[in-house]
Amino acid sequence: MRLKDKVAVITGGAGGMGLATVERFLAEGAKVIIADFNDATGAKALSDLTAAGFGANARFIKTDVAKEADVAAAVALAVSEFGGLDIIFNNAGVGGAIGPVWELEEAEWDYTFDVLVKGVFFGIKHATRVFREQGRGGSIINTASVAGLSGGCGPLAYSAAKAAVVNLSRASAVQLAPDHIRVNAICPGFILTGLTHPSQKTLEEAGQFMDNMQPWPHHGRGADIAGTALFLASEDSGFVTGEAIVVDGGLTAIGPDLWNRYGTPREATMTKTRLNRGTTGAANTTRELKK
Ligand SMILES: NC(=O)c1ccc[n+]([C@@H]2O[C@H](COP(=O)([O-])OP(=O)(O)OC[C@H]3O[C@@H](n4cnc5c(N)ncnc54)[C@H](O)[C@@H]3O)[C@@H](O)[C@H]2O)c1
Repeated sequence: MRLKDKVAVITGGAGGMGLATVERFLAEGAKVIIADFNDATGAKALSDLTAAGFGANARFIKTDVAKEADVAAAVALAVSEFGGLDIIFNNAGVGGAIGPVWELEEAEWDYTFDVLVKGVFFGIKHATRVFREQGRGGSIINTASVAGLSGGCGPLAYSAAKAAVVNLSRASAVQLAPDHIRVNAICPGFILTGLTHPSQKTLEEAGQFMDNMQPWPHHGRGADIAGTALFLASEDSGFVTGEAIVVDGGLTAIGPDLWNRYGTPREATMTKTRLNRGTTGAANTTRELKK
C-alpha cells in the first residue's frame, strides 16, 4: 500500500485517466475526492467504487475547475471528510477550441485556457494553502500533454495551454520547494479515453487505430497514466520536482521520424548493418544479418 491513509483530490476523476488514477490510488490505500464537472459519470464512478468496496474512502463533488470557488470546495471537502490533504492531481481537461487560428473566437480561447490552465492554477493555489498550514509538504501533479512540447501533437489552443501547464508546474516547483511541496507534470501521448475515442468508432476500432500512433506496439491506457501518477504521488519520487514526465510509448522519442516519412521501409534498416565512413575516402562496409 504505497498511499496508505494519504488523501488525494483528483479533478476530472469521473472518467478516462482520472478515473483510472482514482481506482489505483484507492487500491493503494488512499482516500480520494473525485472532483468532476460531469454529475452523471461522477455518480456512476462512485456507485461502481462503492460496489467494489471503496465507498468509505471515496467522495464525489460536482466541480468546474474553471471556477475558483468550486476548486476550493473540493479541497475543503478533502479536509472535512478525510482530515487533510496530501496529493492533488489537476487532471480535468477538454479538447477546447479547434480550428484555424484566424477563426477562433475569444470565448472559445478563454474556455480552453480557463479549464486547462486556470483550473490547474486554482488546484495548485488551494492545495498549497492546505499543505502549508499542515506543514508536512505535499505532491501536486498536473496533466499536461505531449501537445505542450511541440506544435504538431494537438489543436493550437490546446497545445499552447498544455505548454503553459508544463511551465506553471516548473515555476510552482521552484517556488514551493522550501515547503517540501513537489510539483510535477505528466505529458501523456495518445491514451484511449472518452476524449480520444471518436463516437463513430467502437472502442476496439479506436484502440486498433491508436496502436499505430507510436513506436510502442499498443495504444496507451488510463492505467499507464495512473501508474505514473502513483509514482509522483508516493515517496518513491521524493526528490522529483519540476519535472514533466512524458508517458507516450515513444511518440516523442521518434522525433521528426524522417525515415518513415520519406519512405525508407523498416526492413531496409533492420536487415543489415552498415559502417558509413563518410567522405574520408575509406570504403563503407555492409554486413548482412542472419535471419
Ligand atoms: N487522452 C489523451 O490522449 C490525452 C493526451 C494528453 C493529455 N490528455 C489530458 O489528460 C486529461 C484527462 O483526459 P482524458 O483523456 O482522461 O479525458 P476524459 O474526457 O476521459 O476525462 C476528462 C474528465 O475531465 C472532466 N472535466 C472536463 N472539464 C471539466 C471542468 N471544467 N471541471 C471539472 N471536470 C472537468 C470530464 O467531465 C471528464 O470526466 C486532460 O487534461 C487531457 O487534456 C489526454
